[in-house]
Amino acid sequence: MTRMLVTGAAGFIGANFVIQTLAKHPEYDITVVDALTYAGNKDNLKTVAEKIQFVEGDIADMDLMDKLIAGTDIVVHFAAESHVDNSLDDPSPFIKSNILGTFAILEAVRKHEKRLHHISTDEVFGDLELDSPDKFREDTPYDPSSPYSASKASSDMLVRAWQRSFGIQATISNCANNYGPYHHVEKFLPRQITNILTGQRPKLYGAGVNVREWTHVDDHNAAVLLILNKGRIGETYLIGSGEERQNKDILTELLEVMGQPADAYDFVPDRPGHDLRYAIDSTKIRDELGWTPKYTTLREGLDATVEWFKANEWWWKPQKDATEARYTKLGR
Ligand code: NAD
Ligand code: DAU
Repeated sequence: MTRMLVTGAAGFIGANFVIQTLAKHPEYDITVVDALTYAGNKDNLKTVAEKIQFVEGDIADMDLMDKLIAGTDIVVHFAAESHVDNSLDDPSPFIKSNILGTFAILEAVRKHEKRLHHISTDEVFGDLELDSPDKFREDTPYDPSSPYSASKASSDMLVRAWQRSFGIQATISNCANNYGPYHHVEKFLPRQITNILTGQRPKLYGAGVNVREWTHVDDHNAAVLLILNKGRIGETYLIGSGEERQNKDILTELLEVMGQPADAYDFVPDRPGHDLRYAIDSTKIRDELGWTPKYTTLREGLDATVEWFKANEWWWKPQKDATEARYTKLGR
């Protein structure tokens, strides 16, 4: 029986990862460790609660990481502060959780000689020009812009140093923007979907020209499982669907899905330092591991996600007012 420790799985991507992993490998013995920050919600794991062990704790707690990692075979590390706007408001939890938390995990992985997969983001590469033909590749130099992306870049660098200096058995993946069930209402798509569902107008930063590449969370997690099963130790894999959109265009698509007029949104002040464009060249994971997204069009994923939010008001409603109050404070 494979024993797996999943960090941060009361959050969006980690919870979906545990649900998908148990559906594919019901024999896995999964322990989740999560600090239950504002972004952590045990309800995200409600459908699998009987099948996992849940430990409430901080990944920066070195004694706790030592104990939990001693008793597992594989560590899949999702836990992080994840929202750029919050990192601009107060960077300190990003430094603690993303850098010191990863350090604590690496020290325990090194000591107990366990397999680690580190989840990271395309934001570590900085941004691309809107009209450039370039995409991020595994060998693109790091150039992070925000406290969030700098903290994730730091964590990746620590993993690479522990690989080279101590020979730990680790892999890294950097994925593009995810969307899907259990996505926190602070993020772009859930914020706009739940604004529309509560009679508020969607909010577009700046001129809305920034580009993101949208990957369904199930496709991201399928890629992570492939890396765990077939990935080469020491390697980094970039994950992205190829579905790039300007923010104003994906918002127009969303308004159409939700039966709203195409101009039913407000422009709000831009995010400071706002990255222009992210785009992934995912040739390596497609060719080497045979990964291909199941959601072949963004429209298909958007339809499913809107339906999920419509059906699960009980899940997002309690977070909504507090999240909008934080945005009011930030002026966005
Ligand atoms: P999220 O904010 O929804 O969830 C993060 C989880 O980590 C929460 O449950 C939170 O309680 C937990 N956590 C935070 N600090 C912790 C700590 N010190 N100790 C223990 N638990 C802690 O984030 P997400 O969107 O699910 O992102 C998960 C990972 O994927 C992150 O590492 C993020 O950088 C990466 N990522 C996210 C995206 C995206 O589009 N959301 C894309 C690529 C990579
Ligand atoms: O690229 C991967 C990253 O994607 C992850 O590493 C991060 O954890 C995740 O939060 C996400 O970062 P972004 O900053 O790209 O996502 P966010 O949902 O915050 O915003 C997406 C785009 O939409 C971005 O250009 C900012 C814009 N935006 C966001 C919000 C919340 C708006 O125009 N209006 C909004 O209300």
